[in-house]
Amino acid sequence: MKPKSEYDLIIVGSGIAGLSFALNVAKAGYRVAIFTKKDKAESNTNYAQGGIAAVTSAGDDLDKHVEDTLEAGDGLCDPEVVREIMKEGPDRIQDLVDLGVSFSSLGDGRISLGKEGGHSKRRVLHVKDVTGKAIEDALLTAIAKEGVDLFEHYFAIDLITAKKVRKLGFEVEGEEDRVLGLYFYDGVEKQVQTISSPAVLLATGGAGQTYLYTTNPSIATGDGVAMASRAGLSMTNLEFIQFHPTTFHSLNGDRFLITEAVRGEGAKLIDGKGQAFLKKYHPLADLAPRDVVARAIDREMKRSGAPFVRLDTPSMEVNFPDRFPNVFKNCLTRGVNPTENPIPVVPAAHYSCGGIPTGLDCSTQLSGLYACGEVACTGLHGANRLASNSLLEAVVLAHRGSDAVCNFLEGQNGHHIKLPEWLDGDVPASDERVVLSHNLDELKRTMWDYVGIVRSTKRLERAQSRIRNLGREINEYYWNAKVDLPLLEVRNLICVSELIVRSALQRKESRGLHYTLDYPDLAPQAKNVLVQPLNR
Ligand code: FAD
Ligand code: SIN
Repeated sequence: MKPKSEYDLIIVGSGIAGLSFALNVAKAGYRVAIFTKKDKAESNTNYAQGGIAAVTSAGDDLDKHVEDTLEAGDGLCDPEVVREIMKEGPDRIQDLVDLGVSFSSLGDGRISLGKEGGHSKRRVLHVKDVTGKAIEDALLTAIAKEGVDLFEHYFAIDLITAKKVRKLGFEVEGEEDRVLGLYFYDGVEKQVQTISSPAVLLATGGAGQTYLYTTNPSIATGDGVAMASRAGLSMTNLEFIQFHPTTFHSLNGDRFLITEAVRGEGAKLIDGKGQAFLKKYHPLADLAPRDVVARAIDREMKRSGAPFVRLDTPSMEVNFPDRFPNVFKNCLTRGVNPTENPIPVVPAAHYSCGGIPTGLDCSTQLSGLYACGEVACTGLHGANRLASNSLLEAVVLAHRGSDAVCNFLEGQNGHHIKLPEWLDGDVPASDERVVLSHNLDELKRTMWDYVGIVRSTKRLERAQSRIRNLGREINEYYWNAKVDLPLLEVRNLICVSELIVRSALQRKESRGLHYTLDYPDLAPQAKNVLVQPLNR
């Protein structure tokens, strides 16, 4: 099946945010299509292990979940947003259960609740350690039943906006800027298709691939942020990149996540002498918020010169293969049996707390453009996301945002404008493949070395100047080449990295995930950083 040339709503991305959103809007009878750049299940969602946080037990309450979230966010969460999202958690969990997600339960029938860093209570619902896959599968089944069109291997290149189209001499009614559609690269036919729509949802996920070491799959190239920036939107708090403290240390650079829930079940981080060390850094020790744990590991590794620390799993009382079958299997594949030997772990880039600023209805600064999930910055996570709050945020806001889109679509006249067709360059992109992979290596290493867990102004400036050069090179190439997937992804990765560095340079303090040697303290007032669009 080929896509039509127009829809009421185009959704870019088939993770938890895009799929949940699609389901609700399709139920209201609108023509919705989901476009996704690789196979439909390939998303950060699919790899989520720990679970989804919500208040569902008698010993817990909303205030505690709110407090924990605010505490982790280090003064930058929007308390109203936090409360609204937490409040709706249990209803959205019920929706997932109704779709067939079978959360793990205890022998007595009660739901099994995991614990993760920064949570004062056990409140993380999970499906063993494959929660994301269970949710992704249930949502994909539901949208298929609902008859939503889903197109795999369609890469969204750029938003088409009234402003851009007017510049090309096309007539667009009114004065204001708004979204009109998108250009997609069809990875099978290897050509670009123009699709028009009065409403677009960006649900493109995170940007972990900007770093050399990451837990994120290859799709996480920050495309939504890059597209929105090129459409003229400013971004919020991009400097807050969360590094997950514990990923399996492999020599080949692969970083398989060892869920924080393992520490929630009692595992401790130990140094080369077998000593637990987190108590020195925070009263919550191994279950301190992630920024604290990742920095502590970084410090221990730098002090000892060791390439990793270890997670003492053999001393745990839990039945490891039963509670963490996926982690167990993946450790065995990598040569470690966690019931017998501690797991070698290092931090890796994991989650983007900043992104496209949105309201609780997923609306952005551009009329008709919506954003949901990891690509968006709603004010929930502040300077450091509390573990397992992101799946929650995505389902709650997809529910609210889809209502807002339906209202928006009601006010549209259904009239689609003829959009300018895509013009390709002459040079086959494959001619420059070596340059592309070289640029990508340089970018990822630069981000890892200079924009990592501990930063300084000098390192950030160094990164900025290298990334700017890469940006100039890729741009020149982009405007002359026939586009293809690697070119489009590298272009976006460079763009997002430049925005991250600019955002980091603007924050003259250390807060949450942004730690800089030049400004080691908190500034007296907590403020969001807004990064203007790149002028390209
Ligand atoms: P994603 O699930 O990443 O989906 C993005 C989609 O957009 C994909 O389908 C992708 O192919 C598509 N896409 C991107 N760019 C384009 C483009 N240009 N054109 C077309 N399609 C595009 N959070 C929790 O709350 N609990 C957890 O236990 C947890 N564990 C995690 C474990 C791992 C290993 C990772 C990586 C993350 C984890 N997170 C967890 C974070 C959480 O999984 C993500 O934040 C969340 O799943 C993001 O959902 P999303 O729908 O916004 O994006
Ligand atoms: C984990 O399972 O440790 C990841 C949870 C998250 O990122 O929210």
